[in-house]
Amino acid sequence: MKNLSQKSKAYYQDNDYYEIFSASEDARGEVGTFLKEISSNKTILDAGCGTGKYLEILENNSKEYIGVDLSSEQIKKAQTKAKKSTSKFICTNLKELPLPDTYFDLIISSWVLGTILDLEERHLALKELKRVLKPNGKIILVENAENSSFEKLRGHDLDGKTKIYNNWLIENDFSLIKTIDDYFLFTSLKDAQKCFEVIYGKKVSTKVVDRKIEHIINIYEYHK
Ligand SMILES: C[S@@+](CC[C@H](N)C(=O)[O-])C[C@H]1O[C@@H](n2cnc3c(N)ncnc32)[C@H](O)[C@@H]1O
Repeated sequence: MKNLSQKSKAYYQDNDYYEIFSASEDARGEVGTFLKEISSNKTILDAGCGTGKYLEILENNSKEYIGVDLSSEQIKKAQTKAKKSTSKFICTNLKELPLPDTYFDLIISSWVLGTILDLEERHLALKELKRVLKPNGKIILVENAENSSFEKLRGHDLDGKTKIYNNWLIENDFSLIKTIDDYFLFTSLKDAQKCFEVIYGKKVSTKVVDRKIEHIINIYEYHK
């Protein structure tokens, strides 16, 4: 199983840096505002919740919140942020969700499916998300657009990986519904470099020269 979350120490030993990275992302808060607007009174699955970037917004607004993630370390951090006793967290692989059919009104997944590099596993994960979604429910994916300084730093402007993944989403019944011009804003350049080193490696981190990094975000929707 080729999975970024298994390759990257960022989700395990060094997940303090993943936490800083995640907190610096969507600095304008527009994704958060969008999620707030659509999540009111919904039964929500946060698929690959990580350390709970959007937990506060989703939990506050929803009828019920369940966060799932492969990494128990990530889940532990998310749990410390939960405010409602009804919120639940499950450490599991998305490809085998221990959840009933047609349960959720809304599934949110921010920067997750693209980290599942094994295509068969990614398909299984998506199949599971569709299974647990209610008829008329929606899956909302928060993803990277193809052109931004962030993509250039990671070399994805040249290797086309983001483009291939975004095309995969369209092929799998998602529509692009929104593009948001945003940026990462780290507290310091040193933090920015350390986060990029932990997550993407030394070579990428040496290209980071500013604590503010342009990041264009795409929102995709699947309507069952
Ligand atoms: C880039 S992080 C995004 C986390 C969070 N959604 C956010 O916006 O900060 C990707 C997350 O997906 C999780 N993940 C990757 N593959 C997974 C899988 N097959 N099943 C469940 N979680 C997975 C990782 O453990 C990690 O927490």
